Amino acid sequence: MLDSIRKPIQTELENYQQHFRSVLQSDNSLLAAALEHLTRRLGKMMRPTLVLLCAREGGEVTPAAMHAAAGLEMLHTASLVHDDVVDESDMRRGQRSVNALFDNKAAVLVGDFITSKALSEIAQTRSLEAVERTAWLGQTLADGELLQLSNTQRSTFCQDAYFEVISKKTAALFSTCARLGARLGGADEATVSCLEHFGHLVGLCFQLRDDIFDFDESLNVGKPKGNDLREGKLTLPVLHALDGCDDYHRRLALKVRAHEASRLEIQELVDFTIQRGGIAYAESEMQRLRAEALELLHGLHDHEVAQALALYLDYVVQRNL
Ligand code: IPE
Ligand code: IPE
Ligand code: MG
Ligand code: MG
Repeated sequence: MLDSIRKPIQTELENYQQHFRSVLQSDNSLLAAALEHLTRRLGKMMRPTLVLLCAREGGEVTPAAMHAAAGLEMLHTASLVHDDVVDESDMRRGQRSVNALFDNKAAVLVGDFITSKALSEIAQTRSLEAVERTAWLGQTLADGELLQLSNTQRSTFCQDAYFEVISKKTAALFSTCARLGARLGGADEATVSCLEHFGHLVGLCFQLRDDIFDFDESLNVGKPKGNDLREGKLTLPVLHALDGCDDYHRRLALKVRAHEASRLEIQELVDFTIQRGGIAYAESEMQRLRAEALELLHGLHDHEVAQALALYLDYVVQRNL
């Protein structure tokens, strides 16, 4: 499926990979080792793929769009390096996370370095809109992760708060990829806005799928499972299960949120979530957002791109990686 999605931008994506690796270099030996480790596996490249496809819808993948693709994926990479420190996670993309291989101090600094490299790439688009949007994005990503952290102190369970977190920590990046790709590829204003909205919906689906993964011990997605509840993160499946539930399970959820629960108690909350249909509910929410996103593709000019974006959306919703 990824091959069909990438077909309209195959050559550009190969150039992108070369460019990405060539930019992430350093003379500093610790940094060089960390960058070599990080660029060994480039992940699914969902964000640069979206930038390049949206640029194609605008007309062509310009050098500016290529810089945006690299810059935004670097911001994503940096956010993963920092996220693994925050989540105390030791695996990423099937190999050890930077914090596990080196330590937290090195991971914070490596993430900072990559963020600065991302900004250099964005500056090379020579687009003030790209610079302003990326500045907004950096703030929004941090805001989302902090909001998630402060949600673990709340005594109520709120789905709106969950959607605010995932809008900020994940969907903002996808909407920016789509917006800047379309803009720098030369799309008209209506198409830029339409693709930005598409990116937002894709991003929400992406995080919903990721949060569902966290419950599935049978999948191998190259990172640990069950981390969300261990970190006190109550995602949509749990929030749905808690809706209108008894006091016993509310207290259990608060205990998990406060990091005071035993392994058995966490498992009890997982079982409760599944039994109350929490996973099925999150799946249905994802399908609702998917349908909304699919509608937006009708207005595109390039049929091949529209088809690739529809497949992209399906991949995000169905993926098992
Ligand atoms: C992981 O993103 C972070 C989330 C937003 C859930 P990806 O699943 O796209 O990570 P890589 O880049 O493919 O490893
Ligand atoms: C997404 O949240 C992380 C970022 C947007 C940086 P998660 O914490 O769920 O991501 P994974 O599961 O570690 O990839
Ligand atoms: Mg994480
Ligand atoms: Mg996750």
